[in-house]
Amino acid sequence: MEVIVLKNSKKIGKYVGQVIIDAIKENPKIVLGLATGSSPVTTYNYLIKDHKKNNTDWSEIKTFNLDEYIGLDQQNPQSYFQFMKNHLFNYVNIKDENINIPIGTGDYEKFAKTYDKKIAEAGGIDIQILGLGENGHIGFNEPPCDFNSKTQVIDLVESTISANSRFFNSIDEVPKRAVSMGIDSIMKAKKILLIAFGENKANAIKQLIQGEISTNVPCTILQKHKNVYVIIDKNIEKLLK
Ligand code: GLP
Repeated sequence: MEVIVLKNSKKIGKYVGQVIIDAIKENPKIVLGLATGSSPVTTYNYLIKDHKKNNTDWSEIKTFNLDEYIGLDQQNPQSYFQFMKNHLFNYVNIKDENINIPIGTGDYEKFAKTYDKKIAEAGGIDIQILGLGENGHIGFNEPPCDFNSKTQVIDLVESTISANSRFFNSIDEVPKRAVSMGIDSIMKAKKILLIAFGENKANAIKQLIQGEISTNVPCTILQKHKNVYVIIDKNIEKLLK
């Protein structure tokens, strides 16, 4: 695991964005695993700017998102589907048929069961972007997690519902369940870039880097992955000392 400390979220976006752009140049058919939340936003901004300026081609790129809320359909402004449209997909030339996001309505259980197979059929995820929950969750894999889990339905814990309520009008509107790629699904990615900034992530990062591997802190399993980069800001670094 390599830990990279940068000044702020903008610099993180530039760094991670450039890693992705270089990888696209090397393999225009790259398969990307994407995340939602505030952590990857500066990266997506950088990718959009690059597409505008350099015309980086997204037409052959396939993407698989980590998760989606149950109960929100794709038109719902709070859905992760809309998040991805508004923060990335509307601004690059990705093809709709190459975008994969778990569904949160209809037969979402069946969809979840086929998701890992779809990823495998696409050749597996080359680069997975991850954020980090304050409680150490990755995707929506809450503690205590199952390290062997595939894409599945997850009950969100109170602290996650409360942390994510900032994106909703009130906490009552936050869905209580989600579909998420499992820990095993995430661990199969060839390369993982985990982004975290802000002091509230310091404890989870400490566990990730220095803690014992435990199902009570889902991200700690990443210690076993052979190609993980943890990209944090100075605010976190100062609290690690
Ligand atoms: C949600 C998402 C995670 C994300 C986490 C942190 O729970 N399901 O994928 O990593 O929030 O979000 P943020 O980046 O906004 O801090």
